[in-house]
Amino acid sequence: MAPSTAVPETYGTPWKKIAANWAKLGDGNHPSPHDLAIYKKYMDQAIANVAEPRVVVFGATPELRDMLARERGIAVTVLDLNLEMIRAMTELMTEAPDRETWIEGNWLEARLPSNTYQVVFGDQIRGNVPFARQEDLYRTIHRILAPGGAHVTRDTSHLPETRIHDPEELIAKFAAVPSTKETLTEFMNTLLFLTHRNPESTTDRMFSLLERHLDQPFIRSYYEQITEILPRGQSWNIGRSWDEVSRSLLRYFEIADKEQDDTVFADTTYVYNLKPRAISNLS
Ligand SMILES: C[S@@+](CC[C@H](N)C(=O)[O-])C[C@H]1O[C@@H](n2cnc3c(N)ncnc32)[C@H](O)[C@@H]1O
Repeated sequence: MAPSTAVPETYGTPWKKIAANWAKLGDGNHPSPHDLAIYKKYMDQAIANVAEPRVVVFGATPELRDMLARERGIAVTVLDLNLEMIRAMTELMTEAPDRETWIEGNWLEARLPSNTYQVVFGDQIRGNVPFARQEDLYRTIHRILAPGGAHVTRDTSHLPETRIHDPEELIAKFAAVPSTKETLTEFMNTLLFLTHRNPESTTDRMFSLLERHLDQPFIRSYYEQITEILPRGQSWNIGRSWDEVSRSLLRYFEIADKEQDDTVFADTTYVYNLKPRAISNLS
């Protein structure tokens, strides 16, 4: 892979470990039924009057693919860095995949045809791309969308109304709350993404915090589970302000509509219906 297009290891590879444990996490890490209804609404608008709709899923999100399979007749392309990840996520589907083509490839250098797809779906894809490469992501999506198409994506960033939690207060709270799928999802994601204003969220920061509190039995139990799910040394491009992350997005797309997520990420996350801007000088 050429150095100019390589995605740093810290962004690309942890998914094999995460895939094996994906079912242990609840809505938030997964799009919720409410989120999926929004995805479907925006898709329906983009494919109305299209005889043979084409949709690409960036990533392998099983819930999006289940929704597409229930629709029947949509040609679905699944594009993910790891074929193993697509296979693992397929195991988590409740529907049989319908008309899916799997492509192992990088979103940032996708060799997908131009002007082709009515919808490009993503679930939390931007945070998986280094900040310096965000524009490449949006350029690819803009290029492959057919006229009238839409990029429909759920995205978490630090919005003006986002509450940044005190990590010690969070630990004190969850030290009294036994672990369930829901509390684990809330605690892990809040600790990881919503206790700081650093430009990146890192698992190392989260593990260091937890390790100072292992004398508390519930915290030890959360720690042991999170260690199973997430590797050390993992970063996400989540922690910058919306102002900063939206700058490249808004060069390529306008926000036709958006609706708030209803998961543990609710006050930092929307499902966006993005329409390509007419830009003549895009490479
Ligand atoms: C769609 S993302 C996010 C999933 C989840 N909803 C979340 O909240 O974290 C995860 C998927 O993106 C894939 N991925 C990450 N970076 C990628 C890239 N540059 N190109 C293609 N796939 C990538 C990973 O292999 C993984 O399957």
